Amino acid sequence: MKVSGLRLRGILDSRARVTVEVDLTLGSGHQGTGSAPRAIAPGRLERSRGPEPVLGTFSAPALQAALTGSAVADQADYDGRLAGLYQAGEAGADVTLAASLAFARAAAAACGVPLYAYFAGLAGSIPAVPALMVNVFSGGIHLPPPARGFQQVMVLPATGGLRSDIEVAGAVFSAAERLAAQRFPAVGLSASSGLVVPAGSEEQLGLANDAAAAAGHASVCTFGVDVAAEHLAQTPGRYRFGTGELSCQDFAGVLARLAASYGLSYLEDPFDPAEASAWRGLRAVLPRSTRIVGDDLFATDESRIDQSLADGVLLKLSQAGTVTATLAAAAAARAAGMVLAVSHRSGETEDTAMCDLAVAVGAELIKVGGPRRGDRLAKYNQLLRLDESLHSAPSRPT
Ligand code: PGA
Ligand code: ZN
Repeated sequence: MKVSGLRLRGILDSRARVTVEVDLTLGSGHQGTGSAPRAIAPGRLERSRGPEPVLGTFSAPALQAALTGSAVADQADYDGRLAGLYQAGEAGADVTLAASLAFARAAAAACGVPLYAYFAGLAGSIPAVPALMVNVFSGGIHLPPPARGFQQVMVLPATGGLRSDIEVAGAVFSAAERLAAQRFPAVGLSASSGLVVPAGSEEQLGLANDAAAAAGHASVCTFGVDVAAEHLAQTPGRYRFGTGELSCQDFAGVLARLAASYGLSYLEDPFDPAEASAWRGLRAVLPRSTRIVGDDLFATDESRIDQSLADGVLLKLSQAGTVTATLAAAAAARAAGMVLAVSHRSGETEDTAMCDLAVAVGAELIKVGGPRRGDRLAKYNQLLRLDESLHSAPSRPT
């Protein structure tokens, strides 16, 4: 294989900030496009973005020279070159991810397989459709100051099928919108299409519970929270919560009480990554049914993954910077017996590769934001298509 053409352009993400899109052409004529999401709240352990690109086409001669022309063995080979450019400071993680995804799409086209099957071939995994975590309320530093509430409160419908889960989540979201409109003078929508209201963490959870009941779906819903605690830790070991500040131990007690009272089946980033002992101790005080998942903790880095800290790993392509590095993190998590959850970023594009990735590795969970606006709906719709592909295997001749 040879990459014969590479074009970079700046496009808008869901916050109308500029991010990178790459078009790539193989010598065979097969083409692929990929783009990188950006984040409001990147963790301090994750790879850095490059300088903000400009809108429209831009040229990066050094990149183009390094990434085109010579023979490429496979995805790992190309991603290795991208990682080298990142290490050398010549490309940010946004450029490397956009190029890596563009290469993957072109290579999948050259092999004549859909993207999810191409990823599954690289990973050696069995595809499966993940369960949804649907953002209902956004808070924390995803809001303008003063930050209030958890960064994300999500509903996890479990009806036994993707289509009915999407329907239930849509009904709960709409009910939450109505309840919020009755209680607050204005209801906004965050960059990840979660509802924005001036509510504290427990009030967000209460509203989400009430919404599930009002929609008539309480019996098939549990809830999930992204605490994003790294952004709540003012001083080491102390977490801003409500109007006060709590020690690690007291914060663990609050999270355990909320998990039990509000049926939390998912808890992401309950502590700062530096507080390993707090992470290790949380399991003992949480209900068994609450999965503890690390996002900023592991930063989708295979070398950080440690099953003594959490039950699961959040996979973000843009944290890893390439397809190969993301699959390596997924493999490390599986080798450690951990659950996989694939995640969007707050500043998303219409790119749906994260859905193909989640299905390819058979992730247990996926979060793509609230069911509003095109960048999010593109992902729900791609999951519907992938679900259909997996369930429409050709019937055996009789
Ligand atoms: P971020 O958060 O994209 O702002 O880092 C998104 C998430 O963790 O769901
Ligand atoms: Zn997170």
